[in-house]
Amino acid sequence: MEKLQPVRGTKDLFGEDYDKHEVIISIAKRIASLYGYQGISTPIFEFSNIFKRSLGESSDVVGKEMYSFFDKGNEEITLRPEFTASICRAYISNGFQQLLPLKLFTHGPLFRYERPQKGRQRQFHQLNYEFLGPGNPAIDAEMIAMAACLLSKLGILEKTSLELNSLGCSETRKSYQKSLTEYLKDFAHDLSDDSKVRLTKNPLRILDSKNSNDRKIIANAPKISDYFSNEADDFFKSLQEYLTLMGIKFNLNSSLVRGLDYYNHTSFEFVTDALGAQGTVLGGGRYNGLIKLLGGDSTEGIGFAAGIERLSMLYDDMPSKIRSCAVIASTPNQRIKSMEIANELRKNDIAIYFDAGAKFDKALKNAIKENCRFAIFVGEEELKDGSVKLKDLDSRIEEVIKIDNLSQRVS
Ligand code: HAM
Repeated sequence: MEKLQPVRGTKDLFGEDYDKHEVIISIAKRIASLYGYQGISTPIFEFSNIFKRSLGESSDVVGKEMYSFFDKGNEEITLRPEFTASICRAYISNGFQQLLPLKLFTHGPLFRYERPQKGRQRQFHQLNYEFLGPGNPAIDAEMIAMAACLLSKLGILEKTSLELNSLGCSETRKSYQKSLTEYLKDFAHDLSDDSKVRLTKNPLRILDSKNSNDRKIIANAPKISDYFSNEADDFFKSLQEYLTLMGIKFNLNSSLVRGLDYYNHTSFEFVTDALGAQGTVLGGGRYNGLIKLLGGDSTEGIGFAAGIERLSMLYDDMPSKIRSCAVIASTPNQRIKSMEIANELRKNDIAIYFDAGAKFDKALKNAIKENCRFAIFVGEEELKDGSVKLKDLDSRIEEVIKIDNLSQRVS
């Protein structure tokens, strides 16, 4: 029979991978509460238009990566490829205006039909933070500081660097796109095949190209900062001042356009060269027009998301696991009593390894394999006066101890 495989680009999370994933989420939740972000959970699918309108028809995500289908009611649905659009939709649907400024944290699985490779999956997971409310460079600085704090708490900040750019206001972006296209048209024949396609669909993305010939062409391309309004220029300068005062190092990168259409003003990424081609660990930016575009008010926003799989590959600071305590019946006659003791200890928050079906030798072997700290042997002799035998599996020292004193002794 054919071997059952998971769908390409998806993975089962198990063992250390699962544990890392959970620890990363718990650290992210801690950061959220330190910065006053409250949790939100949005549906895993939305009407396709939410993403089409938000991310832009010309973005790679909408153009080729969405998992979309018609449901039985003939509605076009998409498995979420990111969180920001869903959160803005939730803001509008729930009338969250009264709650502004709103700081929201979420995490969970996302879906993009990309070519799988190291650090790139079709089902992946993100940690995501959004700030909704009037924009101000100090808010952008704090958002970036929170991202740095998250990476620092995970012990991976040193493995990354911060790339920073501003895309100016939406008008800037449009007029810059026009000039960039005009400039690139002169080199249309020399561009890589991917960039040739992007020239008509999404020229800003050509700035992201890794192709060496494309890079040479881009080096002389017009810069977006030449198109900034005074306001956008001041905003960006002020953000840089805040970051410098906060001691956050950054590299200005005028090619950092990010792949989604909703961005304007601040855009940033924490990148690493420790992960090969998929070096962006965390990315985000400001999206001032998005809520309005989706039919809401003119509330502004900024946020970022970090890929849990990519964080996980860099993270090697796992806290040591709580070692449990094994309860082992000497013969099947002591099984019920053993279960009782195990349950009593669990009530006192002691992690118990109990192998209900195994015989003595097998249960002890499994307890050692599980790296248990103690083994409690429940035997006929000791039970007569309400005791059990306790073995320290590290020092191998044994003692006979009253059941009533067990909990205090092993906790
Ligand atoms: P993004 O750059 O598309 O931004 O994704 C953010 C992060 O998700 C990436 O830096 C990467 O770590 C991870 N990621 C993306 N695609 C994959 C994949 N196929 N496999 C594994 N990891 C992946 C956004 O999603 C924006 N919504 C971020 C944001 C929030 N902007 C404002 N608020």
